[in-house]
Amino acid sequence: MNATSHRAQPLARSLVGAGLVAIAVGSWIWRTPPALGTQGSHGPPLESRRGAVAADDPTASAVGAAVLAEGGNAVDAAVATALAVGVLNPASSGIGGGGFALVWDAGARTTRVYDFREVAPATLDPSDFHVDGKPDPALARRGGLAVGVPGEIRGLAQMARGQGRLSWRRLVLPAAHLARDGTPTSWFLAHVSPETLADLPDEPPYTPLRDLLGGDRARRRGDLLVRPALAATLLAVAADPEAFYRGPLADDLVATARAAGGVISAEDLAAYQVVERAPLWGSWQGLRVATMPVPSSGGVILLETLGILERTGIDLPALGAGSSAAMHVIAEALKHGFADRARLMGDSESGRAAAAALLDDARLRRLAARVRLDRTQPAAVYGEMPAGPAGVGGRPGTGGTSHVCVIDVEGNAVSLTTTVNGYFGSKLVTAGGVVLNNQIDDFTIDPTLVNGFGLTQSEANLVGPGRRPLSSMTPTLLFDGDRVVGCAGGSGGPRIISNTAQVILGVWLFGLDARTAVESQRVHHQWSPDELKVEADLAPDVRGALAARGHVLGVTGSPSAVQVIRVRPDGVLEAASDPRKGGAPAAPAGPAWP
Ligand code: GLY
Repeated sequence: MNATSHRAQPLARSLVGAGLVAIAVGSWIWRTPPALGTQGSHGPPLESRRGAVAADDPTASAVGAAVLAEGGNAVDAAVATALAVGVLNPASSGIGGGGFALVWDAGARTTRVYDFREVAPATLDPSDFHVDGKPDPALARRGGLAVGVPGEIRGLAQMARGQGRLSWRRLVLPAAHLARDGTPTSWFLAHVSPETLADLPDEPPYTPLRDLLGGDRARRRGDLLVRPALAATLLAVAADPEAFYRGPLADDLVATARAAGGVISAEDLAAYQVVERAPLWGSWQGLRVATMPVPSSGGVILLETLGILERTGIDLPALGAGSSAAMHVIAEALKHGFADRARLMGDSESGRAAAAALLDDARLRRLAARVRLDRTQPAAVYGEMPAGPAGVGGRPGTGGTSHVCVIDVEGNAVSLTTTVNGYFGSKLVTAGGVVLNNQIDDFTIDPTLVNGFGLTQSEANLVGPGRRPLSSMTPTLLFDGDRVVGCAGGSGGPRIISNTAQVILGVWLFGLDARTAVESQRVHHQWSPDELKVEADLAPDVRGALAARGHVLGVTGSPSAVQVIRVRPDGVLEAASDPRKGGAPAAPAGPAWP
């Protein structure tokens, strides 16, 4: 298939109709995600010997699988899939946001990290968030000041240019055509539209989002979602990615943010730079784990959690996957990681040095020795550093974000997480149809206040010009020697870390297949507030046993969706997308078995 053949018919239909891709469980597209049992398991995972793509939208996975079928590699597929997700699910990600990607090149035996996280505008200052001398957290969550300089397009273009095979235009066109031709509104988008509309101010800067969400009626599942302005923007970007950063599209972005109180400038956009970093490496259960370094806290807390669990001397598989005892022990390890995040981490040399010291073997052993099987402990027990002021003044909010896993037939792999932060980011949409992020809320504007995810943070993550906000995104690859054996990552603010960790534990410690691991119950603890979040349908006896260990229980609201691909010892890929956002994986057509 070449790019022009997409013009003949709506893209999603053409992909499936041409027999290029097998969508694993097509019925999920229309089904409300299932109630999840403690052991999940609603069917087998997708199996493939021809590469696989796991995104949290079935059509986006199919876009990536079609790229693989056409001879694209994992980088090509991940770029096309990420762009498609941003069109299909503007609540979570898009070209007005940013992200991180880990890329394993099986031929060159290299793992590269692309950091295309937003940066704070050059003139942004903590005092910008003060009203009448007091910090106003709402300004970091909605409107122009909330917008960080988007890195998505430069990041994806740099990946494609450096490590892809197909043309950039070929990778952007599926997203442009999805926006132009329209797609049925997904279950997830229909689910978040009414709550977003209910909170949206009736003011001119927010009219474009109101229109995107269907106005007073609110968008319903199956309604055709057509985004012609975004289609035109994507076509311009397909011709030249720099069109996003200079000229009319950049002017449109700046004008939209400034009309809503922002300070972002044309110079900020022109100056944006993707940063290539070394991955953060750890070892666990005999595997090598490559994950995201600072400015994400995700990789550090993931490795801390896995490292503590490995050193407790507690046999987690013997406790049983999904048992209250296993959930409790996992929560205890998470509390240590999140306590460290709150006190120490941020996008600075000192934040980076502090993060590296957290993974010291002797330290992990000391923390592991504090884990008690019978009960949880007071907040001061977690971490080893002096506690900062406890944050107040917010409630844990919803989390956008979207994760894509791709492994191709040659064993190349990409783990890519992309985000506009909260649902629909800043709630601003440009004339060109771009939803602008609210990544500035991932900073602290005042360490005595929590951010939109209820996260306590320190001066290390204070908002400041040119800085990157501390993230929870946790794109991860797992290796047996120098053979990639897995890809994982997720969405949902700080729950990205806890949920990705639990899926990794599910597959590579508890021995669950990829789909069962994704569909199993998960818990979340972020140390502050001192509350263990469980899913609404967790069995009452498991809840009771967690409460009996001293946990204060709360219920997870918005979904955290994890995608995973496992390479089995026989070489077959097992892929799973999270039903919590209605996702499904896809693979180039053909039998999994030779
Ligand atoms: N905006 C979500 C994260 O980066 O953690």
